Amino acid sequence: MTTPIHFGFFSSFSPPAWQAGSDRMYGSDWWSGEYHARLAQRAEDANFDFMFFEDTAAVSTTVGGSIDMDLRYALSAPKNDPVALLSYLAGQTTRLGLIATASTTLYPPFLLARLYSTIDNLSRGRAGWNIVTSSENESAQNFGLDALPPTNERYEIAEEFLEVVRALWNSWDEDAVVRDQENNVYTDPTKVRAIDHLGKHFKVRGPLNSLPSPQRTPVFAQAGGSPRGRDFAAQNAELIMSTTIGGVEAMKAFREDIHGRMKKFGRDPKECKVMYATHLYVAESRADFRSSITDSQLLSVLGKHSAHLGVDLNQFPLDEPFPQDVVANGTTSMVESLKDKGRRGQSLRDAIIDFNWGDDELGLVGPASDVAQNLVSAMEEAGGDGYIIMATQDANESHLSGIFDGVVPELKRLGAMRTDYSGNTLRENLFAF
Ligand SMILES: Cc1cc2nc3c(=O)[nH]c(=O)nc-3n(C[C@H](O)[C@H](O)[C@H](O)COP(=O)(O)O)c2cc1C
Repeated sequence: MTTPIHFGFFSSFSPPAWQAGSDRMYGSDWWSGEYHARLAQRAEDANFDFMFFEDTAAVSTTVGGSIDMDLRYALSAPKNDPVALLSYLAGQTTRLGLIATASTTLYPPFLLARLYSTIDNLSRGRAGWNIVTSSENESAQNFGLDALPPTNERYEIAEEFLEVVRALWNSWDEDAVVRDQENNVYTDPTKVRAIDHLGKHFKVRGPLNSLPSPQRTPVFAQAGGSPRGRDFAAQNAELIMSTTIGGVEAMKAFREDIHGRMKKFGRDPKECKVMYATHLYVAESRADFRSSITDSQLLSVLGKHSAHLGVDLNQFPLDEPFPQDVVANGTTSMVESLKDKGRRGQSLRDAIIDFNWGDDELGLVGPASDVAQNLVSAMEEAGGDGYIIMATQDANESHLSGIFDGVVPELKRLGAMRTDYSGNTLRENLFAF
């Protein structure tokens, strides 16, 4: 028997099974919200701590220089707004935490503070915010910018953004709403105040015009990879996410680095959960699974990662190591990881298969009992607070069933996954152990 760790479910408000090898029309009515509602209910029945939605805000031209590839392979579009989806899921679930991504480079802080406060109220305290600064110029160009500001400046803006939204969420005292019928007072005006923020990037009067929510602030999730991004996460986040790419050593190094940075900022490492996003696949064997990957699958997967990295991966030979002189435009840490795999002689094909279908190093492709045991062993070795299981464009019934009917019962049998919710809010559940 082992101690329980936390599990999140990583999704996207976009077509689910489009890159799967079979059953590609599974969840084809995704835009109605029904597919994700069913998925959220399944995740809740399985006692996942939360469901997490990634987001970007553009039809990308990164691959091939026009929007053609992005649309053709459903890489980053179509994608509907996950913040809106959370309102729907709030009514379709009762215990599951609900985390959506929103960018500090693109949102005005007042709008974001009001939205997440509303969702936290609708879900009775289950809202989380994945704080990103965005990685694509095309997204910036949809919001009046010519290009994304450089990384350091994006995080400087994000710092001020957090200052503003925190002030807005605190602009109402907990007991401001009195609903005093006798004296005809709904809200006590002495308990609500303007914030009068005037900074380098934002000018916001306040107060917020929505009332405090059960958690008051959504759970802050962040996944900075660069040194500046990690500092930002270590200073502010309650949930810091990385990936399992690079195996146990990289996971361990990430966690130690984050804990070191937290201490530097005067925070106790216990104030933040470190979780690793990972793919896993239930199959007879890894070899079986690898040989089932079709060329058309590989092509669209390469396109998907190109869009994410800001580098057109289709220009490099598939069966040679990734070149060392590539400069990242988007997610720098993933490009560095590809280079590292290249240095070790791994072909781009194998590196991308690992990226997309679960890194061999952890042994997360195979029979459900092996996958569960390997998840547990890696966590014991690396340290860390849990995993975020990713199932996005490859999610069809057989894949999902492998997770929910295969790996989850095995994790529970091992004592590695909770069997009930202990708290009412996302924060309570996340910090229950
Ligand atoms: C689990 C995980 C989820 C992420 N989700 C998003 C997302 O939804 N949108 C986004 O623009 N970036 C997302 N990112 C990227 C990070 O926010 C961050 O930009 C990236 O790790 C690079 O770090 P840097 O910004 O410090 O360079 C995610 C990263 C990870 C590891």
